[in-house]
Amino acid sequence: MLTIDFFTISAASLTPKVPPMSAVVAVRAVVARHVGWHASSSLPRLRRLRGHVSWSSPTATARVWARAAATSAAPPPTLDPADERFNTEVSVLALRAPRREIGGLMLSLRKHTLCRPRTHKVVHLGDGADESSLILLDEKTCAPGCDVGALPEAVRKVLLDTGVDRVDMSDTDLDTSVDLEHARVDTPRVTLITHTLVLRYDNLSAEECLSKLLPSDVTVPTGFETAGTIAHLNLRDQHMCHKHVIGAVLLDKLPNIKTVVTKIGETGGPFRTFKMEVIAGEGGHLTGPLITSVSENGLTYQLDFRNMYWNSRLGTERMRLVDSFSEHDVVLDLCAGVGPIALPALKKAKKVYANDLNPDAVAFLKKNDSRNKKQNGGKTLSWIGSMNARECVLHMVNGVGSMGTADTSVQSESSRKQSLGDSGDNSSVNPSDAGQSLPRFTQAVMNLPEGGVDLLSCFVGVFNETHWSRESLPQINVYAFSKSDDPERDVSTRAAESLGLGPNADALGAVGVYFRRVRNVAPGKYMMLLSFQLPAEAAYSSIDSMEK
Ligand SMILES: C[S@@+](CC[C@H](N)C(=O)[O-])C[C@H]1O[C@@H](n2cnc3c(N)ncnc32)[C@H](O)[C@@H]1O
Repeated sequence: MLTIDFFTISAASLTPKVPPMSAVVAVRAVVARHVGWHASSSLPRLRRLRGHVSWSSPTATARVWARAAATSAAPPPTLDPADERFNTEVSVLALRAPRREIGGLMLSLRKHTLCRPRTHKVVHLGDGADESSLILLDEKTCAPGCDVGALPEAVRKVLLDTGVDRVDMSDTDLDTSVDLEHARVDTPRVTLITHTLVLRYDNLSAEECLSKLLPSDVTVPTGFETAGTIAHLNLRDQHMCHKHVIGAVLLDKLPNIKTVVTKIGETGGPFRTFKMEVIAGEGGHLTGPLITSVSENGLTYQLDFRNMYWNSRLGTERMRLVDSFSEHDVVLDLCAGVGPIALPALKKAKKVYANDLNPDAVAFLKKNDSRNKKQNGGKTLSWIGSMNARECVLHMVNGVGSMGTADTSVQSESSRKQSLGDSGDNSSVNPSDAGQSLPRFTQAVMNLPEGGVDLLSCFVGVFNETHWSRESLPQINVYAFSKSDDPERDVSTRAAESLGLGPNADALGAVGVYFRRVRNVAPGKYMMLLSFQLPAEAAYSSIDSMEK
């Protein structure tokens, strides 16, 4: 049972059984806060608790005691910045100098001063005629007790220039009087001392706060990623009973973060999403959609982090790929997600078509296409589809169904205009699409590293040599994971196999095959980019020859 009290509700309209709306709202707010409910869901939940809520008799200044059976999960803990566990003393190196010299010294020491939230880098000592100040030095590069020779060059230079030929490491503290005579050597203008800083919650990093709050046998979680206003952690089992504390600290400490989630299931399924749990949310909100906006490479993407793929770590790679396109290219992004390759590609390429199996991602892709039109110089995607990559390739190459008008595809307004006239010269038009006039693609992108290589089979036997000459066959850019010692050979062997060319790494061609080790996703596991021109043997192959 949870007992909740609150005060000063207008008594006039209070009756023991039927509280006024203002009281209901106030009780809702209090109950919701105490039991960790979302404010909007608290009324129906309170109704269900009707038998457990009692109202006191009205009095002039009414005090209402609402007793609610708190059947929901325990409330997320509140963070108390005044909690004494946060109070910490740390020693830092400091330069003590006459106050008039502090400005100049700060310029020389710019990158080597203390860097802590809400902590002054300069401390003025109120020591009368001999007014001096301390410049607190960076804790990482200027650790107390370190050899002077190990200090950064800029710090050593200041010490030399200001006449410090010996360094006094005696302790000082703001609250204790400093032994100036002891701290000076041949009356140098500047002395190097050890200073004791008293830190509180506001001066600590999220990691430091957590180290104070979590039991000593629990490791402090460090790494997290962000997607717009969402911080995303991969908490381990040992953290799960402390998840709300961890979430509350990160929510409070990380600027711009409004929701903290932890992954509670593997990335998987066709849409490459994962189960997540919200462990902290602004206003105590732990439910609801996770829609956020992310800026990357000059464009903005809105997305629902729960229901579609997003990985902020791939921004650089996506830009590298886009940079490899030319103004003559027509790009087909088969697994476009919310558009972080397809949309920037508009800046480089002649035209871009985008497709994704996940209809929710495609809905956001369409919005993102429009909202970035200005940044993309007025260009938008020429075609947007929501189909399986295999179907999409067939659609693009042979015009199976009706290009841009199939149930599963969405044709943008600009694309319709382009189909009606601005279709480029004849040589670039897929003849089988005559009338619909979408230029043939020169670059295909498959960013589906888990399974992308297998998906390459969707190019096999789809092309007709009469319409697509060998030279016009597209460049394929496929991402894949590899755990092999020779990831280049591994990926190209698997790609050749998927294209029906046998387990032969060299079958992709002698020239124009390009690899990139994009990143290490786990020890010994690479994400790879493989780029090659679609071999004619695969493009024109008949199903019969594949089966052989
Ligand atoms: C790793 S995500 C990449 C998304 C986007 N390119 C990016 O960089 O953020 C893979 C995408 O492929 C889509 N997908 C998975 N299987 C697919 C298929 N068979 N055909 C088309 N898209 C597929 C998923 O819905 C997901 O959006």
